[in-house]
Amino acid sequence: MKTSFIPVQFPQDKERLINFLTNETWPFHVNNKLTSDKVIKMIEDGVFVGSNHESFWILDEIKKEVGFIRLFDLEDIDDGYPLFDLRISNKNRGQGLGKQAVHWLTKYLFEKWPQLERIAGTTRVDNSPMRKLFRAVGYVKEGHYRNDWATANGELYDTVKYSILRKDWEAGTKTPVNWDDDY
Ligand SMILES: CC(C)(COP(=O)(O)OP(=O)(O)OC[C@H]1O[C@@H](n2cnc3c(N)ncnc32)[C@H](O)[C@@H]1OP(=O)(O)O)[C@@H](O)C(=O)NCCC(=O)NCCS
Repeated sequence: MKTSFIPVQFPQDKERLINFLTNETWPFHVNNKLTSDKVIKMIEDGVFVGSNHESFWILDEIKKEVGFIRLFDLEDIDDGYPLFDLRISNKNRGQGLGKQAVHWLTKYLFEKWPQLERIAGTTRVDNSPMRKLFRAVGYVKEGHYRNDWATANGELYDTVKYSILRKDWEAGTKTPVNWDDDY
């Protein structure tokens, strides 16, 4: 599928975003079902667009939204790195859109902020599509946090963290993590 990535803007995208986020289930998020009230509060709190956040629609050929990207912790870029949230709509999962999206956002971030040296993302340990996706687009697993991810009903899962370094993105390489430095 040919996709385009278009910034989410308010107020014009408010209803569209509420519909997109509330009409789907998000199995590996803390809240796997979002309510309108929750999304409205998130919009009002500036969680999607602002100095610390940018959000993008993933659109198909007929400009219908098939996914959504939120970049966050952008204010940390001078002394840290951003993270991202990625959501592909249910009927469009498993068709390569997630990979296209992470390729796109990685390029976008590295090109927009030349001082940025790394980008990272976390996911729940059992989110197999997301973990495969990270590996497929050049990200390397660098963190494993035990019993770190609490679901809305109180279950605990491990969290895994992946990142990509600018030098690896430029060269198409993967620098391994030095796991054997314990002493
Ligand atoms: C996780 C998510 C972003 C992946 O995007 P996607 O478009 O479905 O994934 P892709 O089609 O690009 O495939 C990515 C990899 O996962 C694999 N995959 C896709 N669906 C899968 C499934 N149901 N089970 C196991 N593997 C799967 C693909 O084969 C591919 O791996 P490969 O490169 O080794 O072949 C998407 O499924 C989604 O939005 N899920 C719900 C929200 C979510 O979990 N977001 C991530 C939060 S961090």
